[in-house]
Order: sequence, then structure tokens, then C-alpha cells
Amino acid sequence: MSHGYSNRTTLNASANPGFSEILEARISRRQLLKSAVALAVAGGLPLPLGGCAAGGLRREGRLGFKGIAVSTADTVRVPQGYRTSVLYRWGDPVGSAAGMPAFKPDASNSAAEQALQAGMHHDGIHYFPLPYGSDSSAHGLLVMNHEYTDDGLLHADGFANWSAEKVRKAQNAHGCSVIEVRQQGGQWNVVQPSKYARRVTGNTPIRISGPAAGAAAMKTAADPSGAEVLGTLNNCAHGYTPWGTYLTCEENWDGYFASSGALTADHRRNGISPKGRGYRWHEFDERFDAGRHPNEPNRFGWVVEFDPFDPQARPVKRTALGRTSHEGAWYAPAADGRAVIYLGDDRRFEYIYKFVSRDRVSLTDRNANRDLLDHGTLYVARFHEDGGGEWIELTHGKNRLDAAGGFADQADVLIRTRAAADAVGATKMDRPEWIAVHPATREVYCTLTNNSARGAKGRPGVDAANPRANNVFGHIIRWREDGNDPAALKFKWDIFVMAGDSQHADAGKRGNIKGDAFGSPDGLWFDDGGLLWIQTDVSTSVLNKGDYANLGNNQMLCGDIDTGEIRRFLTGPRGCEITGIITTPDGRTMFVNIQHPGETASERNDPRNPHAVSTWPDGPAGGRPRSATIVIRKDDGGVVGT
Ligand code: FEO
Ligand code: CA
Ligand code: CA
Ligand code: CA
Repeated sequence: MSHGYSNRTTLNASANPGFSEILEARISRRQLLKSAVALAVAGGLPLPLGGCAAGGLRREGRLGFKGIAVSTADTVRVPQGYRTSVLYRWGDPVGSAAGMPAFKPDASNSAAEQALQAGMHHDGIHYFPLPYGSDSSAHGLLVMNHEYTDDGLLHADGFANWSAEKVRKAQNAHGCSVIEVRQQGGQWNVVQPSKYARRVTGNTPIRISGPAAGAAAMKTAADPSGAEVLGTLNNCAHGYTPWGTYLTCEENWDGYFASSGALTADHRRNGISPKGRGYRWHEFDERFDAGRHPNEPNRFGWVVEFDPFDPQARPVKRTALGRTSHEGAWYAPAADGRAVIYLGDDRRFEYIYKFVSRDRVSLTDRNANRDLLDHGTLYVARFHEDGGGEWIELTHGKNRLDAAGGFADQADVLIRTRAAADAVGATKMDRPEWIAVHPATREVYCTLTNNSARGAKGRPGVDAANPRANNVFGHIIRWREDGNDPAALKFKWDIFVMAGDSQHADAGKRGNIKGDAFGSPDGLWFDDGGLLWIQTDVSTSVLNKGDYANLGNNQMLCGDIDTGEIRRFLTGPRGCEITGIITTPDGRTMFVNIQHPGETASERNDPRNPHAVSTWPDGPAGGRPRSATIVIRKDDGGVVGT
């Protein structure tokens, strides 16, 4: 590829970049940084909260820790000079009132109690300083997702004696937490009681807004208006806006549905199967039987926005951002002040999207942004073989998304986003997960976690953006929008790194990491110093065996995009995924989520032997392994990672 954009990582190991190439890349990056500053100063552009002051990096970051070894131990390990503590575990009271129910280690808490406690399977997380608009690094709100449940651990006797109460408890273990946290002398605690503390669950009333609200396909027997749905599900990664709201994204929602009737084409396109994926909700909550309620699935698969500073505020499903298996929703400021939201659809051979708002963001009146995400344009990415790329508009009446093309109106285009993207010929990717926007340059990075079906018989073959058949280790792609404007319609891209194990017997699986080995990158985040944090989600079914025999438990690494070096920073306990990362504004406290410690290959534990894989974090005396938010600090109180 030759596209005037540093292409220092290719599949060909012999094509490792020479020094001059790296130097050239660094120089061009510095120039880009300078021009970003100049542009921001000249144009007085609005900058996002938590982003860079004066258009540059808030801090300049360089890797300052000694990388650690892979680990199969049942513990969290971090580099020398760092310490960790556990802050908020599944079942811990959220703290919205005094005297809330404590966690019962035998998992005998009721459904009603679960609705007042941390959900299961912590995922995306954000820190909002308190008070609103401040940059406090000692007091704030932590807002996080609870992606899904392991019913083997959630109930004292697992799936035995399955009941409406158990279904309700599982629904209440989904959604989000808002907790108030405070630091004193480097020690963080959850503030209880807190007027902000809140749980959003699989049954919280949620308003539906945007072009698909009220559409015929959104109406159900329980909601003839098509404008209100109960609950948000499978909230994977997240996003946040400069006006202080949280975005929570519905990923594998299809798995909660089963069907006693015929599946529609859209049910099948979204992965709904007659038997469902083992959650068994339809047995006691009939809206999860897509045969009886064929439109209920249309009400999931959206990006949901809510205001964490107002515990009474009703969350809103923003249909203008499309309906897919949304991994997350990541904001970037357009050059003219509109909001851009990048979106990945995490399923094999699905797409990368972006939404550009119609209106500009108000940085002075947060209420003026209340409905900003209801009006705008959705695009899907096409990656050209020559390193260029374009954003294709998904608007009814354009690009043959019309009656002749089988699309009735814009609501139809948005409800069937994947079908619309199929129709316009977007590029089928290797499972787009998190997207990270560099705080100064606006360069965008996206993890493509893995895709073992790439190049398999009857499936799409390799292309330049997804260049490896049987891609079990995944890669990280990146792009630069024309003019460094996130709203641009064209971009240039290259591959930042092909993940792999440099010791692998199969040369095609070694990747080209400059530094420590990893595979299945998922969580991805730039800190304010421009360091790139990478979290892995190797499926429990392959962890520590086969291709992954040498890579240990799931881990978190930190990359310097100027040198390309990637260093291992954290290894997790057994059976976990590492996902969710944020720091306080001063960079001195990092919050990371440890998801599903102790998960078995079947993803559902045996309640008679809950410690079969892990006892983290409570140890053998605790009843069950528990997902948890951990705090990472440097012993000397310095900026994490540097
Ligand atoms: Fe929930 Fe795509 O990870
Ligand atoms: Ca993920
Ligand atoms: Ca994943
Ligand atoms: Ca996960």
C-alpha cells in the first residue's frame, strides 16, 4: 500500500520499518499535532471535556513502566511501583439509600435486592468529575455497564427450579450502575448513601426517540405507541458526550430472544435463533418470544443516552445512530462543532459506522444538546484496497436505499441498519470492537478482535483491511479523516498492528507486535497523554490453549503510537476478560473492569462448584467469583503508565 500515510506495520515480517520510516512517521505526527493546535487556536474550536487543552495533549505520555510477564495465576498483576484495590463488585450495594441489601455470598439475594446492587459482568466505564463541569480527580461519578449474566453464579442453584423470579433477577443484573466515588489520600471509596447512585436495568422504562420512534415496526402489544421500551440489554462498551451524558450500547441483544414462531428475515439477519442463547427469559417473560412479539426485537440494538447527574432522568434510545450489535459509541468533535459518533458492530463480517449530527454542540448550555443525537446522518465505512476509504450515507432515498431497493422510509433504514449497509457495499470487518480517537490529532483506532471464519469456505475472503485468513488473533486498524475533520467523507487508513504470538509455530499467526504478545484486542482507549491502552478478550473456550497456549490470562497493554512499542501492564485472574478503562482527569487514578473472573469454557458455571476456575476477588472464603471495578495507582502517586 502506498498512500502517504505511515504504513509501518504490514503482515510481511521482513517489511519491518526502517529507522527513517519511523522518523518520517514521527515527524509527520508532530506536524499534525502542531497543525491541530494551530487549527484549534485559529478557529476557537470547541473541545471535548476530558480532551486536550489548547488543542494539544493535556500531558505528553511515554511508557514509563517495566512490562510484566504473561500469567496464569488467579490474581491481578501490575508492574512494580503500582498497586491495585477492589472498589465495586457484582452484588455490592449501589448506595442510593442507607441500609441497602448486602451481597449474600451464596447468591441468594432476591431479584428486588439485585436491582439495588451492582450488576454482573462489568464492561465499559466512565468517570464524570463532581461537581459537573469541574475537573476533580478526587470526587466523581463512575458510570459503567453490566453486559450479561452467568446464571450458574447468579442464583444459589443456577438454572435449577427456573422461575419468573430468576428471570427478573437476571434482568436486574443487566444494565448500568451509577456510583458516587471519593478519594482521600489515594484511597477510593463508594459514597453511600448518594443522591446520584442509580441502577438502570433490563426493566427500566426507556424512551425511544429519533426517526424510528413511533414507527409501525416499533409498536408492540404492550407499547402501541412504539415510543417506550422496558430495559437495555447486553450493554457492552459505552461512550460519553462533552455535554456530560453517558452512552450505553446494546451489543448481543439477539441472544435474549427465542421464537415459538417463524423467524423473519430481519430476525435471522440479526442472529435470533428459535431456541435463543440459553438465557431462558422467554419461558417466563413472553416479550422475549419473538414468535409471539415479532416487533419486540426491533426495540433493542440501539445506543442509549442518559444523564448520570440526574437520577430521575429517563434514558433514551437514540434511533438515529442505527440498530446493530453496538459495541460502543465514541465521540469526536467535527471541525465545525457538530458531534461525530463512531460506532462498531461487533459480529463477524459486520461494519464500522459513524453518525454526524445535524446541529452543533453547545458547550455553554448542556440542555441545548438534549436532543442533538436525534438529528443527523449515519454513514458506513468502505475501506479501499489502496489505503483510501469513504463514508457511505445511509439515508432513505440515497444510494438506492429507497422503495425500489426495499426500504420504505428512514425508520426502516435505521431499524434494518445492517441490511442497509449490505446494500451499499460497505466493507465487512473482522468484528469491530472499541474505537479510540486520539485526543490531539483525531486519528481513529479500532480493534478488530478476531475472525476465524475469514477466508473459510463460503465466507468472505481476505481484503486489504482484513488481510489474514483464519484471523484468530485480530488486529488494530486506524484511519485519518480528510483534513483531520471527523465529519469528513473520505479518509486514509492503515493497520497499526497485527496481533499474534511471535513464538507461534505458524508464521501466519505471529503478527508483527513490537513488544509484548497479545491476541483478541477489544477495549481500546487513549489517555490524555496519547498513550494507547489495549485490553484483551480471548474467549474462555480458547484461553491458555491451542493458538493461545503461550499468552496466559486476559491482559491489558499500553502502546506508544510514535514508536509502535506495546508493553504488557496488567494480567487478570483466571477466566476473566479485561474491559473498561478510564482515569481521573489528572491521570493518577485508573479504573479498570475485570469481567467474568472464573468463567468456564461453557460460559455458565456450575453453581455446585462456583470456584472451579477462580476465587477472585474474595478468595476461597468468598462464595463466588465476582466481576469488579479495580483502582490502579502508582505508589508515588504519579501518572499511571508514565
Ligand atoms: Fe461485548 Fe464486542 O464485546
Ligand atoms: Ca467488548
Ligand atoms: Ca470481545
Ligand atoms: Ca465480554
